[in-house]
Amino acid sequence: MGRFISFEGIDGSGKSTQARALAEALRARGEDVVLTREPGGSAGAEEIRALVLQGDPDRWSPETEILLFTAARRDHLEKTIRPALARGATVITDRFADSTRIYQGVTRGDLAATVDQLHALMIGVEPDLTFLIDLPAKEGLARAQTRAGVEMRFEDMGLDMQTRMRAGFLDLAARHARFRVIDGRGSSAEVAARVAQAL
Ligand code: ADP
Ligand code: TYD
Repeated sequence: MGRFISFEGIDGSGKSTQARALAEALRARGEDVVLTREPGGSAGAEEIRALVLQGDPDRWSPETEILLFTAARRDHLEKTIRPALARGATVITDRFADSTRIYQGVTRGDLAATVDQLHALMIGVEPDLTFLIDLPAKEGLARAQTRAGVEMRFEDMGLDMQTRMRAGFLDLAARHARFRVIDGRGSSAEVAARVAQAL
């Protein structure tokens, strides 16, 4: 079985950049690496991604949204993650279940137990290692807002929400040994060096 690694953090924290950098560094050492992302990472899950991140943000109820993120994750797990781990590849995913715990759990605190129950029922696995790229909410927003696109992102909810998300991630990291909290400030090369050191 290969290693299963996730990157988590608020929008604009630099997760995607760091996931890519780690994948390249491990490939340069000859490792078989599958770099993937959520929501998405398989053909079916990418279709669900478009459903959940495009169009009217009020299209889905919070409950339906949790089901869609979980359905996408289930397909990603079946079609991409499990086969790659089974052949011994290292899987690096840009977001996994912690994102649902934080984004859906923080925006709708009363649904946190539902998120956990659905995870236990339908997903049931955690990464071996999770890098939390930690950045002050203000810096994350500034980085994220330089991007343009058709997708709704939770960054649109503003600074206060991003601050709560960051605190949620740090709290989760403090409670699970699989987390490594990485200081996301500085250049991407500096952050990548911290990730490599922690690995
Ligand atoms: P995330 O996946 O967490 O939303 P990205 O890796 O997409 O973050 O980065 C968000 C934006 O910030 C991108 O435009 C990216 O090029 C830029 N960026 C990433 N890392 C850094 C860094 N260490 N310093 C400055 N800008 C960065
Ligand atoms: P992503 O493409 O990683 O955005 P970013 O690069 O801005 O971090 O994720 C898209 C959005 O989906 C992001 O705002 C976080 C949100 N999301 C959830 O709300 N729940 C989830 O379970 C996942 C995986 C993502």
